[in-house]
Amino acid sequence: MKITSSQLLASEEKFKDEMSSLYYDTTDEKAIITQHLEEHLGKQHFANGIDLGAGPGLISMPLYQRCQNYTLLELLPIYKETLHTKFPNANIAIDNIEDFPLEKNHYDLMLYSHVQYYYPESTWIPTLNKLYDLVAPEGLLIVIFGDTRLIFDLFENETKDICHVYCLQYEKYKQGLEAFNNFDVIPYRTYHTFSNIDEIKKYLQNFFRMEGITELPTFEEKLKILIDKLDYQNQQWTLPIDQYIYFIKK
Ligand SMILES: C[S@@+](CC[C@H](N)C(=O)[O-])C[C@H]1O[C@@H](n2cnc3c(N)ncnc32)[C@H](O)[C@@H]1O
Repeated sequence: MKITSSQLLASEEKFKDEMSSLYYDTTDEKAIITQHLEEHLGKQHFANGIDLGAGPGLISMPLYQRCQNYTLLELLPIYKETLHTKFPNANIAIDNIEDFPLEKNHYDLMLYSHVQYYYPESTWIPTLNKLYDLVAPEGLLIVIFGDTRLIFDLFENETKDICHVYCLQYEKYKQGLEAFNNFDVIPYRTYHTFSNIDEIKKYLQNFFRMEGITELPTFEEKLKILIDKLDYQNQQWTLPIDQYIYFIKK
């Protein structure tokens, strides 16, 4: 894990602010996911649902509304109140996924969205298998992740070791997901918008710090290349990111 749970907790306020300003507020991603979840889940109802690494619950509503018992499991206590307010009938658990008692073959609906980045790549596929074991027969496991290769490719020289592993891992991760046979995948693209260069810089610095890189020697030069590649309209730069929702049926 490049950012450990304890590191997250140590700078909880900062993490929350950064998640909001860098990822949640600068993209329409949560609205896109919500629409796909609504469409895919349709009129179905489920007994036991769980959201692993729920954050502030920005995409949890379509699941919450369809489950008789719904648990939102989140590491950071800072989201507790928001989760209680938004999901009054849910079980809000502030705990580590690794410590929380999770029952095998129990969950009819499970969401694991944008969480695997916090763990070492070598654990990504074994974790998928463990999650699948927790899903009830006929249940549904939903895995969501973004593929940020565009950025890694550009900074390849500086991030060679990580980049290589990371990019390969995306392919392996997809293969791992597709090994479950019975799945639907929805690829979608999100657009992060930035109103000034400092915002782009901050986004990238945060991004690379997540991968353990704090300094990029030719950052300014590469930044210019990246900025030239971005769409610029109405005084805003737009960064496209490919994302995937896997619906895995057990
Ligand atoms: C990028 S956010 C995604 C939030 C939400 N799933 C979404 O897609 O909007 C990842 C969340 O996972 C939580 N998280 C990371 N490691 C965790 C762990 N070991 N146990 C519980 N939550 C964890 C983080 O605190 C963070 O809120």
